[in-house]
Formats: sequence, C-alpha cells, structure tokens
Amino acid sequence: MCGIFGYFGSRLAYPLLLNGLRRLEYRGYDSAGLSVLDGGVRTLKAVGKVKNLEALLDTCPLAGSVGIAHTRWATHGVPSTQNAHPHQDCSGKIAVVHNGIIDNYKALRTLLESQGHVFTSDTDTEVVAHLVEEFYEGELEEAVRKAMLELEGTYGLAVVHADEHKIVAARKGSPLVLGIGEGEYFLASDPTAIAEHTRNVIYLDDFNVLTLAEDGYRVTDLTKAPIDPKVEKITWEVEEIERGGFPYFMLKEIYEQPSRILDTCRGRMNPSAGEVYLGGLREVSDRLLKARRIVISSCGTSWHAGLVGEYLIESLAKIPVEVEYSTELVCKEPMLGPEDVFIAVSQSGETADTLAALRLASSRGALTLGIVNVVGSSIARQTDAGAYIHVGPEIGVASTKAFTGHLTAFVLLAVYLGRLRGSLEASQASQILTELAAIPAHIERILERNEDIREIARVYSRSSNFLYLGRGINFPIALEGALKLKEVSYIHAEGIPSAEMKHGPISLVDETMPVLFILSKGDGSTRVLGNMEEIRARKGRIVAIVPEGEERATAYADHLIRVPEVHELLSPFLSVIPLQLLAYHAAEIRGCDVDKPRNLAKAVTVQ
Ligand code: F6R
Repeated sequence: MCGIFGYFGSRLAYPLLLNGLRRLEYRGYDSAGLSVLDGGVRTLKAVGKVKNLEALLDTCPLAGSVGIAHTRWATHGVPSTQNAHPHQDCSGKIAVVHNGIIDNYKALRTLLESQGHVFTSDTDTEVVAHLVEEFYEGELEEAVRKAMLELEGTYGLAVVHADEHKIVAARKGSPLVLGIGEGEYFLASDPTAIAEHTRNVIYLDDFNVLTLAEDGYRVTDLTKAPIDPKVEKITWEVEEIERGGFPYFMLKEIYEQPSRILDTCRGRMNPSAGEVYLGGLREVSDRLLKARRIVISSCGTSWHAGLVGEYLIESLAKIPVEVEYSTELVCKEPMLGPEDVFIAVSQSGETADTLAALRLASSRGALTLGIVNVVGSSIARQTDAGAYIHVGPEIGVASTKAFTGHLTAFVLLAVYLGRLRGSLEASQASQILTELAAIPAHIERILERNEDIREIARVYSRSSNFLYLGRGINFPIALEGALKLKEVSYIHAEGIPSAEMKHGPISLVDETMPVLFILSKGDGSTRVLGNMEEIRARKGRIVAIVPEGEERATAYADHLIRVPEVHELLSPFLSVIPLQLLAYHAAEIRGCDVDKPRNLAKAVTVQ
C-alpha cells in the first residue's frame, strides 16, 4: 500500500513523477504529493486521486530534474493535504516519502518536540523528516543512516535535501526498486512504475542505503560498507500494465485468465506421462517426501486459494493440510516444527501479515515455501523454496487472475506431491493434468457468456445483500465470490457452506435476499438441490452456477449460469469466473470505481 516514485536525471522531473504515481495509484489513492529540487525543495500535495495533484501542477508547474513522489493509503492520520507525503522538516529543506509503519513514532515525536521540532501532520512518517534534520551535518546519506538506527517498524524511504543534488533511499521491510536508465535513475516501490523507462532493475534488500547522485548510484549497508547488488531484468512487457482497450484492469485481468493459466503451467507438466516438474522444489524434495503436515497461510483472496489448495493436496497427495489466515496464525502459539511444510500464498509477495506468519514458521524450523506472483518480492526471497505463478502484473485491486494462477499452482503442487509420495497413480495424475490443460478453453466459453452474466448483475445491482452458497471444494469459491462482490460493488455478501444455511443464515432469507448457489457434479449436488428448495420455499431469489447437463436446478433457479462440466477438483476454476464477472458488472452498473474500490489498496504492507 502507498506508492513511492523518484526520478534522478536530466529530464523535467514532475511529468515523470506524475506518470509514476499514476502507475502506482492502485497501491493507494487517498492523497498524492511530490517534491522536486528546484532551487530549494518545492512540494505540492492534493487529497484524493493523482488527477487532483495533476490539476494542481497544471496551474503551478515545477522545474527541476530530481524529485520524489508518493501516493498514499492512510494508516496514521486521515487522508488530508497535511497528512499527504512528502513530509518536511522544520527548515523545509528536507522532504521524505515513506511506505510502511514507524512503530516507535510516538516516542520519537515526543523526543523531537522536546528538542523544539514542530510537527504539522498526524503521520508516523513526519518523524523521519525531523530525525534526518536532527542528524544532518552536511551529508544527507549519513543523516539517513543515523535516522535508520532510531527507527523501529518498516520502511521504504526516499529523501531529498535542498542543499544536495541527490536522492537517498533506504529499505527495511517495504520494497524499493531502482531502475537504471541511460544517465538517469528511477526509484519505485514497485517495478510497474519503472518498466516503461528501463528493464534493468535492482531490488534493494533490508538495511540497504541507496544514493543517486551525479556520479551514479551507490548501495551501501548500515556500516557504510559498499554492496554490489545484482542487476536484474524485468521479464514482462509494458503492454501488460496497460488496460489494452478494456474499461478496467479488473475486466482485462478476468479475460487474461485462459492465457495466464497456460503461463503458470508452461514447462511444468507432461499430461500424458502424468508428471509435474517444479524446479523450485527440487532441492527440498527430501523434506517434502517426509513432511508430516502442510500449513497454508495467506490473506483474503489468496486465503481462499489456499482453501482450494487444501482440498487438492489432501485428495491427491494425502497429506494433512491446515489453512490459516496469516492474521490469525500470528496470534497463536502454532504447533509448527521441522517436520511441517509452511506455504505462504500471495499475489504481491509483500503482504505484511503473511510475511509475519512466514517468519514465525521459519523460526519454528518448518520448511517454508512461497506460491507468489511478484518475482523478487519479500515472500519469494524469504521462503526456502517455491513456485511463481507467472500471471504477470495484477493491477486491479480486486485479485482475479492471481487467484486462478494460485489454483493452477496448487493443482501442480498436489500432483507433484502425490507422485513424489506415491499416493497418486500416474494414470490419475495424467487425467487431472489433461483436464487442467483443457481449463483455459473452458474459461473462454464462459467468457462468451459475459453479456448474460451482465444482465443477471443488472437485475440484482440494487440489492443490499447477497448470499453465496457452495459445498466441498466450491465452498471457498462461495467465499471468494462474496468477497469480490462486496469489495468492488459494496453490496454486502456472505459466503456460506450450502448445508450450513439451515443452521442459522436461513433466517435472513425473504423475497429481497438473492442467493447464489454453486453446484458441481460431486456427491453433494443432490443435497445442494435440497438447499435450493429450502430457499425457494422462503421466497428467496436464486442464481445458480451449474455444470452443463445439470437440468434439475432449472426447477428452482431464477437465473442459471452454465459452465462446462469438469473433474470435481478442477470445478473451482470454472465456478469462479462467473462470480468475478458478476462482481465486476454489479460494480460497474452501480457506478463504482472498479479498479480502485474505496478504502482498499493493492498489497497490504502494514499489519
Ligand atoms: C481481494 C484481494 C485481497 C488480497 C489479500 C492478500 O481481491 O486482493 O484480499 O488477496 O490482501 O494479498 P496478497 O495475495 O498480495 O498477499
């Protein structure tokens, strides 16, 4: 959450900074601001989206070819101009942008105030500007280093000083990437803001200090020792972070899923032989062979993917699995040890809660794996091994393609483990993988029904509530469908196991309550049909997702969405697509900003 962008070069900085902020806006859009070195430090800030800052700059353009910028997701202090970054010191010579949370900011603020510093915001970040001012003795880099020794918590920082033609950046627990151009440098919290300028990047590590100056870039550690970081290449194309003719990234990313699932599978399976190759797990195969238990930990949509993973691994690999919210795991004394495998599931690889759970699991000696999208992210780097899902940058705040990417990785992992541990016959593995290979084509067919799904969304777009019911491996899909609907359309929705309905939630049902059922061909479907009858008897309105050929639901449902019939274990791939579209259309019809739902931001980097 929050985005940082910085530019050091010879071009006019502010248009580049604005462009960088637009690329990062999905990380937070409560307010935005920038500072450029233009004879002194000149700072402009605006509440709301980046376009408000842009409007301000139209009336008041800034010269200068060095600057830092920030788009904010509020943690400490309401969204306001005062609380927007960059934050400045008393002299107005220093400007700071910050991602993360300074845990000891109150104590530092009290101390600095007692030394005469006057604060103008409610943020934790402002202490950094005053601390740097306190330590400044003519060398910004040194002052930042000294400030770092006082800061507790997490930070990605970029700092400028009016008297030095430099940007100094530092990282602890919040990502920062340096883009190396031709005689110019780009600094960002996320490579999506850099990719259009250069493909050569350096991912900073914790406690790295980066200085951008006329003589180039320099990375050092807290003791000033030089570091020679690896220059890596951005592997995806810039078009992937464009809307490409779609009105919203969310819709584009829903439509990308068939090709992205193929990307996740590429080079990793041989369906006819029933074999899966996960190179990232080769070195830990011994421990996987002996694993006593798997604990999957994640948040939100990635947690739902983990629940599907549980079904897959228990069915195919016969290993007991527990799925924990990362946010809850850290509140427990988890029974994790060296015989356990801990899997962190994350799109961003930066979710602070999942990172905390991962560190806890590591400290207990568990083997840690990451199933992550963002290459080089903190979770990917801090796990012992893992598999990237390779679905490309996900910009829509509501996760869609990363979800099916995670499902794909779980199918591969479950088959891999099943074969490794001898619990899955090659013929069974072959059947699953062959069906997996056909999933993209099935999704294409569902996407052809987009207009029908939009019509259903229109019918229910004025509803205040929705219930989503699913059973077995489709219960997590009910949860995911409900989450998608509420986060983008603001319609309250709950996901419930179908048969739990009669244990309480059925009291909510009347003619104003739409209920969405997910049916698959599994054993439970007869019972789910019984649940539909119960809703019908109470005048609830029913939308049902049913496999083609399932005609019994027509007797109860007001609306049917038919999806191709597949192996039960793969049915979540197909039941989730209509739910993503339903949420998207409901939001769009209700006039919501689909890609930037209120109060949300992509990548929750605070606990
Ligand atoms: C929902 C959504 C969130 C994320 C959650 C975890 O659409 O995007 O619920 O799934 O914040 O994020 P990652 O996967 O980046 O760890």
